[in-house]
Amino acid sequence: YTITVNPDATGAAIPKSMYGVFFEDINYAADGGLYAELVRNRSFEFNTTDASGYNGLTAWTVTGSAVVTNDDQRINDRNRNYLSVTGATGLTNAGYNTGLAVKKSDKYDFSVWARAGAATSLEVTLLTATGTALSAPLTLAVSGDTWKKYTGTLRATATSDVARLSVKTSGSAKLDEVSLFPRDTYKGRANGLRKDLAEKVEQLDPGFVRFPGGCLVNTGSMYSYDAANNYPRARSYQWKDTVGPVETRATNKNFWGYNQTYGLGYYEYFQFSEDIGAMPLPVVPALVTGCGQNRATVDEALLQRHIQDALDLIEYANGPATSTWGKVRADAGHPKPFGLTTIAVGNEENLPNEYWANFLRFESAIKAKYPDIVVVSNSGPDDQGSTFENLWAKNREHGSDMVDEHYYNSPAWFLQNNRRYDAYDRNGPKVFLGEYASLDNKLYNSLAEAAYMTGLERNADVVKMASYAPLLANIDNVQWKPDMIWFDNDESWGSTSYQVQKLFMNNVGDKVLPSVATGAVAQPKPITGAIGLSTWRTAAVYDDVKVTRPDGTVLYADDFGDGDAAGWTSVTGRGNWAVTNGAYTQTTTDTEDTMVKAATINETDYDYTLKATKTA
Ligand code: AHR
Repeated sequence: YTITVNPDATGAAIPKSMYGVFFEDINYAADGGLYAELVRNRSFEFNTTDASGYNGLTAWTVTGSAVVTNDDQRINDRNRNYLSVTGATGLTNAGYNTGLAVKKSDKYDFSVWARAGAATSLEVTLLTATGTALSAPLTLAVSGDTWKKYTGTLRATATSDVARLSVKTSGSAKLDEVSLFPRDTYKGRANGLRKDLAEKVEQLDPGFVRFPGGCLVNTGSMYSYDAANNYPRARSYQWKDTVGPVETRATNKNFWGYNQTYGLGYYEYFQFSEDIGAMPLPVVPALVTGCGQNRATVDEALLQRHIQDALDLIEYANGPATSTWGKVRADAGHPKPFGLTTIAVGNEENLPNEYWANFLRFESAIKAKYPDIVVVSNSGPDDQGSTFENLWAKNREHGSDMVDEHYYNSPAWFLQNNRRYDAYDRNGPKVFLGEYASLDNKLYNSLAEAAYMTGLERNADVVKMASYAPLLANIDNVQWKPDMIWFDNDESWGSTSYQVQKLFMNNVGDKVLPSVATGAVAQPKPITGAIGLSTWRTAAVYDDVKVTRPDGTVLYADDFGDGDAAGWTSVTGRGNWAVTNGAYTQTTTDTEDTMVKAATINETDYDYTLKATKTA
């Protein structure tokens, strides 16, 4: 067939920021992942609230006497616990996954905060899992009963991904923030990033970095970590908790079921975005919790405080080094502004009315002080349904700058919906496709994503940014898949979706040129109509209709929010139905819980199962 391109036509400009990445600390993406710290539970703050079975000595083995202590001798009000060691004692840290990964001849920077009533020495060594030395010992003399930072360097004598860090005290001491970083971090930065992972992201050449979540942002308590709020552990991601010297940062329960140290915090996110030439795009909580925790705050003072936090964040990123928050940035080593242009308020908002009321408050405060900042609004938890329609209607009527959409679907869905944005209002809010993925890590999924991205690009006048999600997954700690980049302690590899993203990000066009294909063009096989329950959906009691392939992947899902039930053949019977080349057979029988109707699917490659679940 022939593709005819009109090179003279004036198509939409495609911004450099069209394709970016979405970093969330899910699947151990930060601690044990991109954040290069090798010591797990370095400040003895792990807690059973973070995950069942955790305690202050998680990842540590003690030979002798060491007690996790929380009293007024602590190093800092936000770093509550320290380790109180009595007499000569051995401590061994097992790191993340199978252990610490070290490379023969590479240097490792050790540091610890310590104090001791009587002079005590520390002997620090890398060990194999069975206790053989992997480095010459480093000896540090601790003197004085005030907190001081002690540092030194270890050099690995062999390569291992199951190493241990051993710290032996000759006598009593108090220890905190025990840390070991490879010298060879990304761009050699202190408190830096794991080089192979950071380089894989850099090689994508992303136009932007959306961070720090996801559900990480808008779940948990909205209080910050302070005495006034009794130091809440399971709280939403609040940027002020994550800046300043690392030994003064509190840790938190991560929504995805583990502890997060905030060693990788807002300063590091901004620095990384700058290092890879990408636009930083922070997401702040809108004081409405989502991701299954549907609550909105009724605390006006708390809402105001969060709105002020958003304003302070802009000052932190862009303000002069003499401003209150610009100084915090400058003190951390970056006097020059980071150049923040865009901020998102909220993530997958389930409570449209409550979210909208708060969004308007955030937006008007931000625009009043910083009229040029783009404020990204939200469209709810998925791409269909009443919340999505409701929020889009509000955004359209209001004239929001940009709306964040998310969807995770089958490869067939991505092929069928290539034209999704052709129909979007050219004068309405712009679209930020903040999260999407075809639901597996197979080649077919990435091809479907690539095909879909041509539709995003063709609509570059409406779709301004898009990011595949999630970005990173530690193979031993997976809460969500598929993912773009996979890793273990010392290796990382991109999925085929990574290669597709890299291809598109490294070859962003300048503008859209209209093209026409003629001849025997292979067309995707259409699904005619949709799966529907025309009688029952009016009563709005059925939801979550799915067509699944024999391997369990979802071909089609519909929550009946978009009025597409018409025109379908009905099949009477409660249970699961197999559909083979248009013929229906009931395979299981259910009671009142399910009811199916089916329609012809003009795709004969698979046998399908149809199922609708009664929700009310
Ligand atoms: O990308 C993983 C999760 O998917 C995000 O945290 C959330 O926004 C979405 O539901």
